Amino acid sequence: MRVLSGIQPSGQLHLGNYLGAMSQHIELQEANDCFFFIANLHSLTTVQDAALLEKYTRDVALDYLALGLDPEKAKIFRQTDVPEVTELAWILSTVTGKGLLERATSYKDKVARNIPASMGLFSYPLLMAADILIYRSDLVPVGKDQVQHIEMTQDMATHFNETFGKEVLKRPEAKLNEARIVPGIDGQKMSKSYGNAIDLFDTPKATKKRVMSIKTDSTPVEDPKDPDSCSVFALYKLLATPDETAALREKYVAGGMGYGDAKKALLEVTERLLAPARERRTKLEADPDYLEDVLTAAGKSARDVAREVMEDVRSACGLIAGKGTHA
Ligand code: ADP
Ligand code: TRP
Repeated sequence: MRVLSGIQPSGQLHLGNYLGAMSQHIELQEANDCFFFIANLHSLTTVQDAALLEKYTRDVALDYLALGLDPEKAKIFRQTDVPEVTELAWILSTVTGKGLLERATSYKDKVARNIPASMGLFSYPLLMAADILIYRSDLVPVGKDQVQHIEMTQDMATHFNETFGKEVLKRPEAKLNEARIVPGIDGQKMSKSYGNAIDLFDTPKATKKRVMSIKTDSTPVEDPKDPDSCSVFALYKLLATPDETAALREKYVAGGMGYGDAKKALLEVTERLLAPARERRTKLEADPDYLEDVLTAAGKSARDVAREVMEDVRSACGLIAGKGTHA
């Protein structure tokens, strides 16, 4: 199964990103042909500072590798290392009704959050469809917010094939990340734009400070507490084993445990994930040539796939390129 997903390099990744998306990407590498790319062209709709975009792009790669993505098993590459995606995005735009893009809820949401309503932001789903279709991807693991984009991608593949009378593009399926919304330290959905995130790669001291400042109610220490309405417990459940979760649940229900102790338990399981990852990341950071080699090699092999598909696309629509031009 060919699995593909894109991650925007638009800021520090947090525990919500890991538990909601990255951990599943990393799991999928075991039994699939995985393509994960860093969507730097998409980020240009919000990050318009060269040094920052370069840094965020590197950071996404380092974060994934540190957390267990294995470049021997999965490809991790930059979107811009496959420039053909922008060509396919244009071609798709010619078989896509403007109305389809006008219905995109994520565009409306972003404009409502004061992101400039550029043409790039408006045509974001075209580039995303090209990202997916150019590798004939079977499965696209994404969060709920992205499902509409996958449906649009399916429509575009069908329109293209029908318009040119050939089955060139493959309709992908969305694979919904487990419906778990990871709460932030204020109990709302964890998001970098809400200032409530626990970042993946902070110093241990800063991580501790974030965990200890998770909002809880004012139930006295001796009283029983409701684990199911507590963000500390919700996060613990996502990081701990089922046995550990059951044990902490008992302590909540029994009373006699303060939230401070629950937070300490949470910090322990958080550090179990983050401490070794931090170490790996530090090592990776010290070897920028290795990182560059990984990204370049994966980009090249992804591009080989993309080039073949583009030959079929160009030939289906009569776009003739000079011999060797695309070699
Ligand atoms: P942010 O809200 O911080 O800007 P993004 O929208 O860039 O995060 O998230 C990228 C992906 O990470 C999402 O598609 C989603 O799958 C996952 N994700 C982000 N925040 C959460 C969360 N709080 N709970 C679960 N998944 C999340
Ligand atoms: N739009 C996705 C997000 O914001 C990122 C993305 C770009 C993507 N191209 C993609 C995801 C292709 C899956 C497939 O999270």
